[in-house]
Amino acid sequence: RNAIGVQTASDASINGDQEEHDLCNWDELKFSFIPTDYMYVMKCSSGESAFSQGHLTRYGNVELSPSSGVLNYGQGLLEGLKAYRGDDNRIRLFRPEQNALRMQMGAERMCMPSPTAEQFVSSIKQTALANKRWIPPPGKGSLYIRPLLLGTGPILGVAPSPEYTFLAYASPVGNYFNGPMHFSVEDKVYRAIPGGTGGIKSITNYSPIYKALTQAKAKGFTDAIFLDAATGKNIEEATACNIFVVKGNVISTPPIAGTILPGITRKSIIEVASWLGYQIEERAIPLEELINVDEAFCTGTAIAIKPVGSVTYQGQRVEYKTGEGTVSEKLRRTLTGIQTGRIEDTMGWVVEI
Ligand code: COI
Repeated sequence: RNAIGVQTASDASINGDQEEHDLCNWDELKFSFIPTDYMYVMKCSSGESAFSQGHLTRYGNVELSPSSGVLNYGQGLLEGLKAYRGDDNRIRLFRPEQNALRMQMGAERMCMPSPTAEQFVSSIKQTALANKRWIPPPGKGSLYIRPLLLGTGPILGVAPSPEYTFLAYASPVGNYFNGPMHFSVEDKVYRAIPGGTGGIKSITNYSPIYKALTQAKAKGFTDAIFLDAATGKNIEEATACNIFVVKGNVISTPPIAGTILPGITRKSIIEVASWLGYQIEERAIPLEELINVDEAFCTGTAIAIKPVGSVTYQGQRVEYKTGEGTVSEKLRRTLTGIQTGRIEDTMGWVVEI
């Protein structure tokens, strides 16, 4: 057992290479957790500032000190990225170094040491390959890899943890949502505040909006759109995805200014859209502008790109174009084509493993 109490995999055969396509019903994959074979663990011990050599271990529960920083004070970050199986049966990751850099930025904000980009990317490659048999067949989904950076050392006073653990586990996933998204607008609960942690993937960014999300779902919406806390006038993002609006040839999205998560799909879509000839604007988007746009769509690693079917605010519902012929469909085809190897990657975004 290592310091966080996980069994190491020294005696286990890492059989990720074995192809087993009847492991689960690939046609019924949703965005829900299915345990896989291995996870990756790496530690930064007390008094050290760097992570030591990590290793793969059998997937399983971890043992944590009840006084760990993450359990008591929420000192933790998450990431999310996917491994895709292409029609050519090759396995590809999409811009994993971007997740590494975002984890480093978040770690700096949360007073945590972080793995180097090399350590991070290597851990992701190893996790994907060790769980290769869980990467769905082409067109059925992907293997979602969830890296975590956690304050696992014991601490009673409010202060950074004396010890940290990096973990990466994986689950095969299908769509996060089926069909277009239908949003309500949340104008009482704010997801992020200026100077807060909305711009990093802190684990503490999600559960504070469960109440708003649960209420939106109870009313039949897929999700809620959050507004900026400073003025309450501009749209920011949904619970776990960035938002774009389309009017004619112009695609707009709220700017990255500390309260919006710098999504890697967001960033990639901005580049893809400009190659495809659209004009891109990163600017404040007033809520009332949603009445006048042709389309809206969301981006995120988990959801990829999803069209917005409607937005409802104070009883007024606005509907948007979705499906064939839309801008978001064109962008979705191009991005997923690059991710799965159907479209040539001229940007060096894809990492084949
Ligand atoms: C992702 O898109 O990977 C996310 O991190 C959203 C998630 C919290 C489900």
